[in-house]
Formats: sequence, C-alpha cells, structure tokens
Amino acid sequence: MNETITVLGLESSCDDTAAAVVRLADGQGQILSSVVYGQTALHAAFGGVVPEIAARAHAEKIDLCVEEALAASGLPLTSMDAIAVTAGPGLIGGVLSGVMCAKGLAAGSGLPLIGVNHLAGHALTPRLTDGLAFPYLMLLVSGGHCQFLIARGPDSFTRLGGTIDDAPGEAFDKTAKLLGLPQPGGPEVERAALGGDPARFTFPRPLLDRPGCDMSFSGLKTALLRTRDGVMAEKGGLTVQDRADLCAGFQAAVADVLAEKSRRAMAEYLTLDPAEPVLAVAGGVAANAAIRAGLETVCDEAGLKFTAPPLALCTDNAAMIAWAGIERFRLGLFDGMDLAARPRWPLDTSQPALLGSGKKGAKA
Ligand code: KG4
Ligand code: ZN
Repeated sequence: MNETITVLGLESSCDDTAAAVVRLADGQGQILSSVVYGQTALHAAFGGVVPEIAARAHAEKIDLCVEEALAASGLPLTSMDAIAVTAGPGLIGGVLSGVMCAKGLAAGSGLPLIGVNHLAGHALTPRLTDGLAFPYLMLLVSGGHCQFLIARGPDSFTRLGGTIDDAPGEAFDKTAKLLGLPQPGGPEVERAALGGDPARFTFPRPLLDRPGCDMSFSGLKTALLRTRDGVMAEKGGLTVQDRADLCAGFQAAVADVLAEKSRRAMAEYLTLDPAEPVLAVAGGVAANAAIRAGLETVCDEAGLKFTAPPLALCTDNAAMIAWAGIERFRLGLFDGMDLAARPRWPLDTSQPALLGSGKKGAKA
C-alpha cells in the first residue's frame, strides 16, 4: 500500500490545546509536528479544570497552535489532505473551539473535514506508534478516562468495562491533595510510595467481588481520608513514613484492581483468538511503575504482549487525532459542515453509558 495521506489534527476537549501534522507513507505513520499548550497553571488554583476558563484559553490558542504545527511540519495548509478535529467527548466549550476552527479551515481551504472521537484517538495511537494489528485490547487510564476497549477496527470498538465514578488519575490527585503533596498528584504519590510499606494500611479493592470489568475508585479516596484522619487523631500529625505508607497502600490497591480487571478483560479478548494478542495502555497513569509492573505480570501469565506508546502520545495531544483522521480518511469517513460538538460520545454505543463525569468532564 503506497498511499500517502497527510492530515492536520486539532484537539481541545479538555485542558490541552493541541495541533499536529501526521503523514501516512509507505504504510507507516509519521508525526511531522505536534504542538501542545497545556492549561495546568490556569486551573491550578481551582483544584480541577474550570470549563469556562478552559474554553476561553482554547479559543485564544487554537489558531496559534495550528500555525505553529504547520510551520514546524514545513508544509502549508494546501499540502494537507484533510482536517481532523476532536468532536467529543469532552468539555463542550473546548470541543466547540476546535470544531469551529476546523470548520473554518476546511471551508477556507476546501479540504475535507473529519470529526474524531477523542477516545478513538487514544485507542488508535498504538497503531501509529507500534503498527498494532486489529483486534487488540486497550486500557485507557488517565485523569479523565478509565476503560477497557477491544479495538476491532478504526471505527469499531467494544467496551468491556470502565470506571463508574472517578478515573484513577483523579484518585491519585485527590490522594496527593489529602496528604499535602503537590499536583499533579500521580508522580508525587508514586515517589512517596517508594519508601512506604503497602501492607501497613489495608485499602479496599472496589468491585473485585463483582463479575465483569467495571471499576470504581471514588471509595478509595474516602478510605484514604478516613485512614489519614485515624492516624492524625492518634498521633496529632503525619510523619514522612505515615505518608509513604498511605501512598504505598493506596497505590497497591489501584494496581491490584487494574491488574485483576485486566485479567478479566484479557480472558474476554482472547476468545476472539487474535493472531498477535496484545494489551496496549494509554493515559498518564500508565506512567506508574507499580501499575505497569502489575499489568505486565498479568500479560505474561495470559500470553499477551504489553505495549505503551511514549508518554507524550499517551497523554492528550493532537497527533493521535490526526492519526485517527488518517484512519477514517482511508475508510472514506468524512463529515460535513454540520459536524456537531458532542460533550458525550461513547465509543461503543451498544453499552450502557458510564455514569462518572469526573473533574475533567464527561467520560463518554
Ligand atoms: O493522560 P493525562 O495526562 O491527562 C488526562 O487525564 O487527560 O493524565 C494525567 C493524570 C493525572 O491525574 C496524573 O496525576 C496521573 O495521570 N499520573 C499518574 C502518574 N503520572 C501521571 N498517576 C499515577 N502515577 C504516575 N506516575
Ligand atoms: Zn484524553
């Protein structure tokens, strides 16, 4: 297959404004440029993403991002084959900024418009980075998402389960907050846990007693709060060791839940008899060494390959949107000027909607 397709991608569904140019040539995806403007500092004082602030910041930055991405790729807009944009799920104001910008670019240039599901962007990334063949098993695990998906094709996903409340990244961030550690909390909790004893405090393993792959993480932070208060009431404060033990116990609980639910997801996936069974993970939480180690062990036991795209492509970016746009382009899946921005957009419409909405907006 010698098709060459070059797509400009836009992403603005949460708290990163991003644009990227990706090219498919000789059967391989290549990122020509990828620009991300994070908004962490803008939301820092509020303990979560403020939708109004996010929307304004996206509207201010999105065209700048596009200009930078085109300049860095060395290609003019006229060299693109299509404009791909995240059309949901996410915070509606942000999604609208991207969709309106993409429509303007498409109308002005005459290029086709392709609306991409943000979750499909994450889920298709291992095809860009590792050339994975369908079907593969995907675990999205970040501050905004947590779900198991079987990727069967660029537009065909089966959701095996997901969080019914918080995403694990949120639980890490809240844990850090409760223990007086800085944000984002995941890396801080992981660092503190290195010196801790995971067995000193017992944390629940939510929903392991129920069949299936659904997960719940909000009870864990409540358990952490109670345990913390117990220690503080007893000793009048927290020592460095107390903090380390709390972090280690919490992290072990998250790792255990993800490992056990992955085991179940794998069993279901393996019934498809994939030629090259593989579990791919994406999302900021996939950076956690203890969680990765747990997943790798389960993969070894079940005979699956484990893979994780580089962190910059695991977290929100526009290269994944441009790539998903290329995949849709090849299937002839284009959108018109009536492309809608969707706050909720489940990848697998045959499954009941997930309930959690999370600090980063709808999880689809
Ligand atoms: O994918 P991501 O950058 O953003 C979205 O959620 O969209 O993920 C960020 C989340 C944060 O909640 C952060 O605390 C968590 O990933 N995270 C980690 C680690 N590094 C980042 N959680 C646990 N351990 C880590 N090492
Ligand atoms: Zn995301």
